[in-house]
Amino acid sequence: MFNLKIIIASTRPGRKGPAIGSWIYDLAKKNSAFEVTILDLAIINLPFFDEPHHPRLKKYQHEHTKNWSILIDNADAFIIVTPEYNYGYPATIKNALDFLYNEWNYKPVGFVSYGGIAGGTRSVQMLKQVVTCQKMMPIPESVNLPFFTKYLNEQEGFVPEEGIIESAGLMLAELAKWAAALKTMRKS
Ligand SMILES: Cc1cc2nc3c(=O)[nH]c(=O)nc-3n(C[C@H](O)[C@H](O)[C@H](O)COP(=O)(O)O)c2cc1C
Repeated sequence: MFNLKIIIASTRPGRKGPAIGSWIYDLAKKNSAFEVTILDLAIINLPFFDEPHHPRLKKYQHEHTKNWSILIDNADAFIIVTPEYNYGYPATIKNALDFLYNEWNYKPVGFVSYGGIAGGTRSVQMLKQVVTCQKMMPIPESVNLPFFTKYLNEQEGFVPEEGIIESAGLMLAELAKWAAALKTMRKS
């Protein structure tokens, strides 16, 4: 089984990220390839990057960095659930990525993005550029949700149509393949 961590990128009060995060969490849990955990950046509550040394050196000074390092180090794969803010990614996810280096290396990442007409894809395209610098493998299969609020019910639950569920299944299957392949790379 692979350890899959779902990172919820948005942190603002009233955010919709957790509704979408819970939906992909429930789907991922049904896939026997994964043991799944949610990492909600609002709960993890990292400050702005405040380590004096480059993360590559792992000379962490702060408890919050050491805790974040442990959470990311024992992951085999990630899903980043992200909105698009001003045609880009939220600063919170870039900050969380910047805190670490080795812990991200040789691990696959899939994206669930949401927004207006672009479905958060501009955010994802920018994130792909960042994560490759950290030697992650951003997989092409993704879930992009234009006008996502139409799938939110009165209880703020996310209830999408069948095609979206299928694309999530495809992404999870590919993520499992990459997780297997990259695990061997990390061993060598
Ligand atoms: C600061 C800010 C900037 C936004 N910029 C965009 C944008 O560029 N493209 C887009 O599709 N939606 C944009 N939106 C609308 C978001 O898609 C929508 O508010 C969504 O719920 C944000 O995710 P969150 O609720 O998890 O924070 C923006 C929202 C905020 C708060």
